Amino acid sequence: MTVIIRPDIVGSEAKGESTEMIVAIDGPAGVGKSTVAKLLASRLRYLYLDTGALYRAVAWAVLQNGRDPGDADAVAALLPTLTLQMRFMQETVRVSVNEKDVTGELRTPEVSAAASVVSAIPAVRAWLLPVQRQIGEKGSVVAEGRDIGTKVFPSASVKFFLDADAAVRAQRRHRELVAAGHGGAIEQTSADLAGRDSRDRSRAVAPLVPAEDAHHIDTSALSAEEVVDRMMAVVAAKL
Ligand code: DC
Repeated sequence: MTVIIRPDIVGSEAKGESTEMIVAIDGPAGVGKSTVAKLLASRLRYLYLDTGALYRAVAWAVLQNGRDPGDADAVAALLPTLTLQMRFMQETVRVSVNEKDVTGELRTPEVSAAASVVSAIPAVRAWLLPVQRQIGEKGSVVAEGRDIGTKVFPSASVKFFLDADAAVRAQRRHRELVAAGHGGAIEQTSADLAGRDSRDRSRAVAPLVPAEDAHHIDTSALSAEEVVDRMMAVVAAKL
């Protein structure tokens, strides 16, 4: 079961604009999706939906319960015992699992690796699909993940697919980890990222692929602001 607490009034309603718009952002890890999705949501005054946090919350629960993330049956059996809560606040989101706030524990290397593994389990994806759609049903959302434009919101008004050189992505992710106190050797970050990437791209259900109608942006040589400027130009044409 999942509880979602989202504010009823988001910016676009206040501005009298369309409330239907969903902006989908997909791409591999370390490409800068979260940073630009947050900035874009803030500029548009939309809700920022980090779908990876839902997979991470499931992974956290799997590890907490001492289950093997690769054991599809054990993971599927755990799902009915979980209540996830996403509480949307001004610029942040708090995630709870069975009423324990786990927001600060979702970005460790252990949870990242387990999230990539559990996200390949069809039962997990099926369980999280209606959750994501429920959050998006009122529109005015910038949703970020791997299958947003292809599976979660295939009729999103605007879709972006971000990519960047593997080395640049590893550097960015390593900087994030160091800032969060989880830093190790960059070679390890790079290997972890490559492993997650190949799992995300090759899984049978909802693999990481660009939607046919996605706008591609290579973020390797762009700042987050430059990426958001490009996105805004596309989004503005739809408002
Ligand atoms: O975006 P992230 O790094 O927080 O995502 C964590 C994992 O969850 C990632 O390895 C892939 C998976 N994921 C997914 O399969 N589908 C999504 N829509 C979002 C994340």
